[in-house]
Amino acid sequence: MRTMLGKTCLVTGATSGIGKETALRLAMLGATVIIVARDAARGETTGDEIRRRVPLAQVETVTADLSSMTEVRQLAEEVLARYDRLEVLVNNAGVISMGQQLTADGLETTFATNHLGPFLFTNLLRGLLERSAPARVVTVSSAAHKQVRTIPWDDLSRGAQAGHAQTYPLSKLLNILFTVELARRLTGTGVTANCLHPGFVRTALGRDVTGVLGAVVRLVLRFQPGPATGAETSVYLASSPEVADVSGGYFVKCKPTEPSALARDAWAAARLWAFSEKLAGL
Ligand SMILES: NC(=O)c1ccc[n+]([C@@H]2O[C@H](COP(=O)([O-])OP(=O)(O)OC[C@H]3O[C@@H](n4cnc5c(N)ncnc54)[C@H](OP(=O)(O)O)[C@@H]3O)[C@@H](O)[C@H]2O)c1
Repeated sequence: MRTMLGKTCLVTGATSGIGKETALRLAMLGATVIIVARDAARGETTGDEIRRRVPLAQVETVTADLSSMTEVRQLAEEVLARYDRLEVLVNNAGVISMGQQLTADGLETTFATNHLGPFLFTNLLRGLLERSAPARVVTVSSAAHKQVRTIPWDDLSRGAQAGHAQTYPLSKLLNILFTVELARRLTGTGVTANCLHPGFVRTALGRDVTGVLGAVVRLVLRFQPGPATGAETSVYLASSPEVADVSGGYFVKCKPTEPSALARDAWAAARLWAFSEKLAGL
């Protein structure tokens, strides 16, 4: 059996659904697990739940709202101050927000939470990951990325033209482009970057979606397998020796899979990186 004893893994969005199950499974494999929660109490409750199921689990909680770039910077500072190793970063937190909701930074909420927050966070932890190599970055995307036909470059961060039905698939496309470019930039460092579609899974995702779209999302998810199934590919990419040297891949059911043509566009990946760097003030 593979073991993660002695390894430190950080999972965002670990207070619910796929992230909670991913944190639990990594704890079962012996890893020290850092849970990122946007609500401290929910983070503590999740930590207690994991410790009840895995009595020797090493679980610690840090708190941040990943849609706020200020909080992402504070979170990275806290992680860098508290930990001298990080072998696995799982960018799992995600949201489908309604309408054109803007954050305090003036960013569309889904874009900020699902793309820019993880982009900034990963970049701020890059040195720690490289010092901990071999290390892995795992980002949870979605097959929903295939719905995107073009990238609205002039409107990416505010989502005004995209319409709420498109901001989520777009953010999941950005997760893949981010991974492609991150993997390229990490070549030779001993840190890999891969992303995945977890399958359609019965979780709280879509709880904020109203109207017909909300009804469809909740109906579809109700009949899907539970979060344990959804966590399988995340845990595989975080821990399996089979993918120790694989980077830049998109995985479904633990198998490398070809994403959409747009998601394989290296030029778009480089453009997104430059755009995100500027926007995040890196
Ligand atoms: N479920 C599916 O069918 C499916 C399919 C494809 C991809 N995915 C992806 O899987 C990932 C996990 O989603 P899930 O289905 O497990 O949904 P979920 O049960 O709603 O879990 C989402 C997690 O993200 C956290 N989160 C949301 N916004 C945040 C913010 N601003 N700052 C910090 N944390 C935040 C949530 O925290 P709270 O607990 O505080 O709400 C929660 O822990 C997402 O990236 C999603 O896009 C899911």
